[in-house]
Amino acid sequence: MRKIMVANPKGGSGKSSLAIHLASWFAQNGNPVCLGDLDRQQSSRQWLAQRPLSLRPIKPWDIDETLQEPAPAGCAIAIIDTPAGLHGKSLKRLLAEVDRVVVPVTPSRFDMLASSDFFDELAQIKAVRKERVGVAIVGMRVDLRTQASQQLLEFLQQFELPLVTCIRHAQRYVQAVESGSTLFDSNETAAQDRRQWQPLLEWLQKPCSTAQRLATPEIRRVQR
Ligand SMILES: Nc1ncnc2c1ncn2[C@@H]1O[C@H](COP(=O)(O)OP(=O)(O)O)[C@@H](O)[C@H]1O
Ligand SMILES: [Mg+2]
Repeated sequence: MRKIMVANPKGGSGKSSLAIHLASWFAQNGNPVCLGDLDRQQSSRQWLAQRPLSLRPIKPWDIDETLQEPAPAGCAIAIIDTPAGLHGKSLKRLLAEVDRVVVPVTPSRFDMLASSDFFDELAQIKAVRKERVGVAIVGMRVDLRTQASQQLLEFLQQFELPLVTCIRHAQRYVQAVESGSTLFDSNETAAQDRRQWQPLLEWLQKPCSTAQRLATPEIRRVQR
């Protein structure tokens, strides 16, 4: 089973939103997928409990930090949501178990400061250095017309980790989540929104080493 973890030390950076969108995208594409939630707030878990039975199924996976609990039968992919403040031994232990880490970052000074230490910590972990675990960054709630978003892009350039895409700020993200669904569960989702997710979905499906070397400049094209 492939395990994709969503992590960022800062609360409100979009971890749960990213985790549930990934889970529902895989479900929509016919992949047997489960969703584990390590955060005590259990946002993803609660979202899953509200998910209408008419939508493609996502199974809950009851986990702790060891990720050793048996996954629901037949699942090929697991998405793992994590709490704010993840670092040190807990982070290392999880990295020994997962295949990919996706890090959402918003264009906020506080988010960037918190992420900076996290990126440095990630870069020092052997599994990341050796490219056994692929790490990618996703800009969340980004509007490239704003100065804050441009500052985010500049800030991210100092790290070797690839920024694979930026997701815009839109009320529809908030509304979909309230009803146990995501943008991927709706036929009415704007093509622009689907386009913004596409590079991340492609990155997740590529072999790890090539996936790591994706370049940042693609972002500007994606946003147009
Ligand atoms: N692209 C987006 N547009 C608008 N609001 C968003 C978007 N992504 C996330 N949000 C909102 O931002 C808030 C924080 O996101 P959340 O996923 O709960 O972060 P975390 O899990 O890191 O604490 C939530 O209210 C969520 O609905
Ligand atoms: Mg959360």
